[in-house]
Amino acid sequence: MQSPVENQRLVELDMNLPIWDRFFWVAPLVLVGTMESDGSHDLAPKHMAMPMGWENYFGFVCTPRHHTYSNIKRDGVFTVSYPRPEQLVLTSLAASPRFTKDEKPALQALPVFPSTSVDGVLLSGAYMFLECELDRFVDGFGVNSLIIGRVVAARVAEDSERKDEVDDQAMVHEAPVLAYLHPGRFASIADSLSFPFPSGMKK
Ligand SMILES: Cc1cc2nc3c(=O)[nH]c(=O)nc-3n(C[C@H](O)[C@H](O)[C@H](O)COP(=O)(O)O)c2cc1C
Repeated sequence: MQSPVENQRLVELDMNLPIWDRFFWVAPLVLVGTMESDGSHDLAPKHMAMPMGWENYFGFVCTPRHHTYSNIKRDGVFTVSYPRPEQLVLTSLAASPRFTKDEKPALQALPVFPSTSVDGVLLSGAYMFLECELDRFVDGFGVNSLIIGRVVAARVAEDSERKDEVDDQAMVHEAPVLAYLHPGRFASIADSLSFPFPSGMKK
């Protein structure tokens, strides 16, 4: 086996510090929706968020300091909206700091519609929508926790639904998807290529 140092110089990262800001990595960017105790709704962006396996589970990383965490602890449900690239600024606004009475007025800029199977809201104009019932909290990753939900309802915008008769490349081109490039960058993905799976590969 070839030693990696023959081709490139490697930088040892300090394990006493978090490593995740030291290089770029690709993540999704979603808005997690919950209800506040006063009956208003909350939306918060999350990039550490993804399906938990091949069945209908969805999980994301959150800190117990966030309302998202305490709202889910209380109500046992949450929603997930996948914003389109043109909704990036709205998505970012949902991370605005709270005011003195814990309110987040920036949320008024985000158009929403009610979810159907769980109590909550979804972002109007997003392209994918999940409604989740809490499966479990996994606490203790430092200051973070993993929140996992069972997806009990899901809807996709018509222009973003994969169909046999629609070419995947054309579909992504017509309805680009948003990627978060941690830390602090984003990309609108409109061009994509088929993945070169090895022949005979099984899931
Ligand atoms: C681009 C972006 C990505 C974020 N990703 C996460 C994440 O994956 N997990 C997390 O706990 N917070 C994440 N945050 C921060 C929170 O969502 C944010 O602080 C939010 O205001 C918390 O709101 P809440 O108190 O209403 O739950 C992210 C913020 C931004 C701008």
